[in-house]
Amino acid sequence: MTARVIDGRAFAKEVTGQVTAQVAHLKHTQGLTPGLAVVLVGEDPASEVYVRSKGKRTVEVGMASFEHRLAADTPQDHLIDLIDEMNADPAVHGILVQLPLPDHIDEAIVLARVDPAKDVDGFHIANVGLLATGQRAMVPCTPLGCLMMLRAHHGDLSGLNAVVVGRSNIVGKPMAQLLLRDNCTVTVAHSRTKDIAELCRSADIVVAAVGRPRMITGDWIKPGATVIDVGINRLPAPEKGEGKTRLVGDCDFDSCAEVAGAITPVPGGVGPMTIACLLANTLTACCRAHG
Ligand code: GUN
Repeated sequence: MTARVIDGRAFAKEVTGQVTAQVAHLKHTQGLTPGLAVVLVGEDPASEVYVRSKGKRTVEVGMASFEHRLAADTPQDHLIDLIDEMNADPAVHGILVQLPLPDHIDEAIVLARVDPAKDVDGFHIANVGLLATGQRAMVPCTPLGCLMMLRAHHGDLSGLNAVVVGRSNIVGKPMAQLLLRDNCTVTVAHSRTKDIAELCRSADIVVAAVGRPRMITGDWIKPGATVIDVGINRLPAPEKGEGKTRLVGDCDFDSCAEVAGAITPVPGGVGPMTIACLLANTLTACCRAHG
């Protein structure tokens, strides 16, 4: 079998198109412009790329973009003060503090300071708790994007066996909650899981979010299963020239695509959907603030 490749770029375009139309409608009918503030502390090159891309897309859909770039040695109190200002600013509907933060800053304290209503990342414990108890929450963007692709491919997810590989707060845990909410039978696998390959072979849906390049191979996949690859790993690619790199997922694409029914590629799968969902969450936050 050769899997259907789920085109995350095309899907993200559809979502951003809908967001663009709704932003225009909000402006026209209520004179409102949704605003997204992104904070980057330090100069991590991968984070720089993400933040630049988020700012660009925000403006493209007609929203206001506020970027705050702070030096790597910024004291935690300064960051907290900035968050307080953004919490109080009516032009800011969504706040995203790019992770990881430098070691001297306590991530939990910072994330807890963001107004849960503006927490477009869905990382505040209030939103984590709301999601876990099936209430209206801001949902983390990457798992939300994965869920949208799964729903589009399968329709109803009820009764499907899903294995989420990885237990991070950003992806693995919220992904498991979302799949559970959609009536999947969910198992979360991690580095201590026994016979992880056998477990994955029992799954109708495998979501890979471990950060280990090409860890999951075709012999882990049940024929016809859906594979969602969240991994973005940069590997040296000497065949492309000296010092060049290429992106690969947590799944070995070629061998998994031989067996799976559908699979997301890296790049061009989950990645574009994450930013699309961030914009959708910002629109949602704006509508709720004025609803
Ligand atoms: N770093 C890697 N992924 C994310 C994300 O989804 N949100 C934030 N804030 N930081 C990240």
